[in-house]
Amino acid sequence: MSRPAESPPAVAAAVILAAGEGTRMKSRRPKVLHPVGGAPMLAHAITAAEALGPERLVVVTGHGGEAVADAARRLRPEARIAVQAERRGTAHAVTQALPALEGVTGDVLVLYGDTPLVRPETLARLVAARAEGGHALAVLGFEAADPTGYGRLILEGGALTRIVEHRDATEAERATTLCNSGVMCVEGARLAGLLAQVRADNAKGELYLTDLVAIARAEGLTAGAVACEEAETLGVNSRAELAAAEAAFQARARATAMAEGVTMIAPETVFLSADTRLARDVTLHPNVVIGPGVEIAEGAEIRAFSHLEGCRVAADAVIGPYARLRPGAEIGAGAHVGNFVEVKNATLGDGAKANHLSYIGDAGVGAGANIGAGTITCNYDGFLKHRTEIGAGAFVGSNTALVAPVSVGAGAVIGAGSTVTQDVPEDALAVARGRQETRPGSARKLRERLKAAKAAETAAE
Ligand code: UD1
Ligand code: CA
Repeated sequence: MSRPAESPPAVAAAVILAAGEGTRMKSRRPKVLHPVGGAPMLAHAITAAEALGPERLVVVTGHGGEAVADAARRLRPEARIAVQAERRGTAHAVTQALPALEGVTGDVLVLYGDTPLVRPETLARLVAARAEGGHALAVLGFEAADPTGYGRLILEGGALTRIVEHRDATEAERATTLCNSGVMCVEGARLAGLLAQVRADNAKGELYLTDLVAIARAEGLTAGAVACEEAETLGVNSRAELAAAEAAFQARARATAMAEGVTMIAPETVFLSADTRLARDVTLHPNVVIGPGVEIAEGAEIRAFSHLEGCRVAADAVIGPYARLRPGAEIGAGAHVGNFVEVKNATLGDGAKANHLSYIGDAGVGAGANIGAGTITCNYDGFLKHRTEIGAGAFVGSNTALVAPVSVGAGAVIGAGSTVTQDVPEDALAVARGRQETRPGSARKLRERLKAAKAAETAAE
């Protein structure tokens, strides 16, 4: 999300491991493309790594990983893809990235594509620890509430001597609760040489990246460890863990927003996205859902049960309750969008109002215009979408159907219940509905006639 205040140490490259099959997700979609905060987990890993300014970004994809490769290229066109055809372990995965790392001598940061919560600040601490300690590599660890299944960081006199996987650990080693997160920072110039020495002599028969620690030590080099909160290392292997990651992401995003001056009445009911931009003094009422691509300016108020995505809300606008802003909605300063109003690909000028029960799609609404209750832009003819233009200060009466393409000039007035099919010039008054006919006394006569008919029918029975 946000960059650390002081400029962080730079790395030369970031390698993101994303070759896992994600079997336990039971999904057609590759695991790393499942979203957290509306963005694929892979994007979170990339964003975190980018805070360290890598010149090169390598994503390691697995067998059939075309979807992951495509997503990576869409997210970052400059990303290099390394294919790990066979899943032979984390060291093997990083080895596949070596050709893409050719010429890299600075630090290489390795992280997992399915671990979306690691903070840029934490990565910065890891990189700094590697450099300051003069280590060949530094490993990010955490104190695990339940260390079962994790690799353990074995320290001797404060120095990291090796990492032992749970399956290969002795009872004594298993008692260690300082675990490996999987995130690592390695001196680029040494990476290939260390990887070449990894052997699959372990319980799983895999090539373990964690062996780099002992290999470096055997060469007379050293390794460092940095600890972070367990929450940051949360890896997603199942839908339940995906939900846990989402909850953690939301908690963090809400806290950040409030720290930056956003009011939330019931933060636990508000949902944000990874790219949500909220200015100071924005108020988010309970049960507001903000999807991807939303920017809300200072002082705007989003009332309860509103759903926003792909839209911009200018300063001091009031949205909701129960409003829906869809992609391309641009709401002007001080404008009002009220209950059961849907806005899609439409601009509402400053101070414009659409307060009740409307659909404004593919439209431009001028500043200060008033859109009456139940007004609908009929933008779709079954084949094509058409635009509606409403001028500044226009007044559109309730229950108007605007059959696009159509325009209403500035200052024009549309009578309630109109079906507008022709352009209305500036300052004109248009009424397009059946003319009212009123016959005095006719209702009473009708009632008497019907009453008599019913009496005759009852008598005949
Ligand atoms: C790994 C670490 C362990 C650490 C744990 C943290 C090793 C040997 N073990 O164990 O110390 O505590 O993560 O979660 O590194 N991957 C590939 N290709 C492979 C194998 C893995 O891309 O051939 C990727 C996976 O998609 C995943 C990550 O590497 O994102 C970790 O792999 P995983 O099999 O989950 O490792 P663990 O056994 O959990
Ligand atoms: Ca794992």
